[in-house]
Amino acid sequence: MYAVRNVTEDLIWVGANDHRLALFENVYPIPRGVSYNAYVLRDEKNVLFDTVDWSACRQLLENLEFVLEGESLDYLVINHLEPDHAASIEEILIRYPGIKIISNEKAFLFMRQFGFHVDDHDCIVVEEGDTFSFGRHTVTFVFAPMVHWPEAMVTFDVTNGALFSADAFGTFGALDGKLFADEVDFDRDWLDDARRYLTNIVGKYGPHVQLLLGKAAGILDKIKFICPLHGPVWREDLMYFIEKYDLWSRYVPEEKGVMIAYASMYGNTESAAQALAARLCDKGMTNVVMYDVSSTHVSQLISESFKYSHLVLASTTYNLGIYPAMHNFLMDMKALNVQNRTVAIVENGSWAPCSGDLMQEFVENELKDMTVINDRLSMASALHPEKAKELDMLVDAILESMESPEA
Ligand code: FEO
Repeated sequence: MYAVRNVTEDLIWVGANDHRLALFENVYPIPRGVSYNAYVLRDEKNVLFDTVDWSACRQLLENLEFVLEGESLDYLVINHLEPDHAASIEEILIRYPGIKIISNEKAFLFMRQFGFHVDDHDCIVVEEGDTFSFGRHTVTFVFAPMVHWPEAMVTFDVTNGALFSADAFGTFGALDGKLFADEVDFDRDWLDDARRYLTNIVGKYGPHVQLLLGKAAGILDKIKFICPLHGPVWREDLMYFIEKYDLWSRYVPEEKGVMIAYASMYGNTESAAQALAARLCDKGMTNVVMYDVSSTHVSQLISESFKYSHLVLASTTYNLGIYPAMHNFLMDMKALNVQNRTVAIVENGSWAPCSGDLMQEFVENELKDMTVINDRLSMASALHPEKAKELDMLVDAILESMESPEA
């Protein structure tokens, strides 16, 4: 059965929701599902903007059949060639043999690499800033390399102000009927997934997101809709989400607060982390969150490390190294460019504690613009009351560092 929503009178969401996929990109858990957004413009020419994942192709085809009312598709605009959006291209070409494809040179190269028979069709190669008219609507193409693949571009409809933003402004989470961000409590129910999506998918490419935001800055007053490839469409309060993207892509913390990530084999490092959290709260810093790195997916750890200004890394020593799950978190922080944070170190070890030195070395040498607090809490097997003074010193150092203007 078709399931569509109108963005405007002649622009229709024809995408699909997916609750069956457990891991997005076979990496990221998506317990709330995900949407693959595609849009049809009914103009003098009928235009499809992007397609959907292969698993959702049938839904796209049913939606197209309904909204086209017996007409055919004239154009297919491909903004992003990653298969979660492009895998259905071949099927669209078969079903609508007269369709012309509009995209950029790199995207056409990828289409051929993926085995799509695009050369049987008119391929219209666009350059940055080119415009194209479908009748009443004129669009312009803006390249957005590495947001998230090198061929990514966005398309701006100058007639109605719709920005087809590709992966930018996307989020995990299925729509389940609610197409618009103003139809949900985005801040309460969606923001965490939006942050987890952006920071893990494009976190590495903050400067490229900044480049795109810079291009958008000149037309901000003309953008009336943001139509991403995942998650809700924005038609109100666009700046709320644009400002979040600006913070995340500049690696600026959203909140002054402390994320405690701990690695604990028998609960002793966890107990020390709890004692630290209790003292922070006791002294007035209640914006504290704690995560066991062994039982928290690393994509969640990354997302939270983008959110908070201060990170406490508490790890037991393991095989004369950093506990594996903590090491994995550190490696992911490096891969995704986490930077500009204040870090406190807590180490544990029963006979040769060295996780503290190793974590500090990693943070200082492998990550950018990190400040490691001098006071370190070190314990042998477990934290005992005689260490209370050291614990308080670390808490005070964290709180003191929060007073500096850039914290
Ligand atoms: Fe949702 Fe980069 O694809």
